Amino acid sequence: MANQLLKGKKGIIFGALDERSIAWKTALVCVAEGAEITLSNAPIALRMGKINELASMCNAKVIAADATSTADLDSLMQQSMENHGGKIDFMLHSIGMSPNVRKKFAYTDTNYENFLKTLDISALSLHRVLQSAMKADALNEWGSVVGLSYIAAQRTFPGYNDMADAKALLESVARSFGYHYGFAKKVRVNTVSQSPTVTTAGSGVSGFDVFLEYAEKMSPLGNASAEDCANYCAMLFSDYTRMVTMQNLFHDGGFSFTGVSTPIVDQILKANGETAEG
Ligand SMILES: NC(=O)c1ccc[n+]([C@@H]2O[C@H](COP(=O)([O-])OP(=O)(O)OC[C@H]3O[C@@H](n4cnc5c(N)ncnc54)[C@H](O)[C@@H]3O)[C@@H](O)[C@H]2O)c1
Repeated sequence: MANQLLKGKKGIIFGALDERSIAWKTALVCVAEGAEITLSNAPIALRMGKINELASMCNAKVIAADATSTADLDSLMQQSMENHGGKIDFMLHSIGMSPNVRKKFAYTDTNYENFLKTLDISALSLHRVLQSAMKADALNEWGSVVGLSYIAAQRTFPGYNDMADAKALLESVARSFGYHYGFAKKVRVNTVSQSPTVTTAGSGVSGFDVFLEYAEKMSPLGNASAEDCANYCAMLFSDYTRMVTMQNLFHDGGFSFTGVSTPIVDQILKANGETAEG
């Protein structure tokens, strides 16, 4: 389906760990659409993940950066501009991690040091990435930055723990920085609120399989896949969405605006030994 939508554009993709990662799929789509990219991830992910495999498929350079380190991000901006011979046009922030989720601390019995790390890694990192880019003047006018969010920012999904608070902050940073970057350089900043997707980060959430199935049954179009998300991100990096900024865009097959669906009603009726007709 490639249409050279991103021909001549250059970008940085953060967060490709393995072939299930949303960032992995987005990197492949962006390159198929004609973009040149740099890949970045935390040093530990470079050692443990498969990013070099992706780099060779995308003919991309890999640059390590811990998204909680301003020094790493400043250096990444300089290196990417050197690598691409000039400014860049888009960035995907596909970064999330909660030590509380990993270590199974309940939300109501949280560990506050972990909580702060969750916010730093999963939300403030978007601010850091944008601040480093702005300071280095690394983005061309009409550039586009996308962060990935989840509907737990608006509605409670108990197993999502402190990541819900991180996503609410992430969406707010996109709005606030989008305002400033828009006036300063016509750069747009949005978040995409994606369906539950089977990835390393996604599967770490408690009860993930159940809310994957629940979302599938609640969404008129079904859950959006990582590939669908990659296509949507590529569209947001393209010139077809030049005037879209400061938005949280639901990419979830209609889940966010469905109150209840027939498959869910039928399942409850069946469990109660009843039929739709009563
Ligand atoms: N999978 C889902 O169900 C789902 C749904 C909605 C939104 N999202 C969001 O999509 C994004 C990508 O997640 P994914 O599902 O592809 O999982 P993933 O585990 O493949 O990606 C998460 C990435 O974050 C990176 N990361 C963690 N700490 C970092 C740090 N300090 N510095 C730099 N990078 C760091 C990891 O190395 C990894 O590559 C996340 O923001 C996630 O919250 C995921």
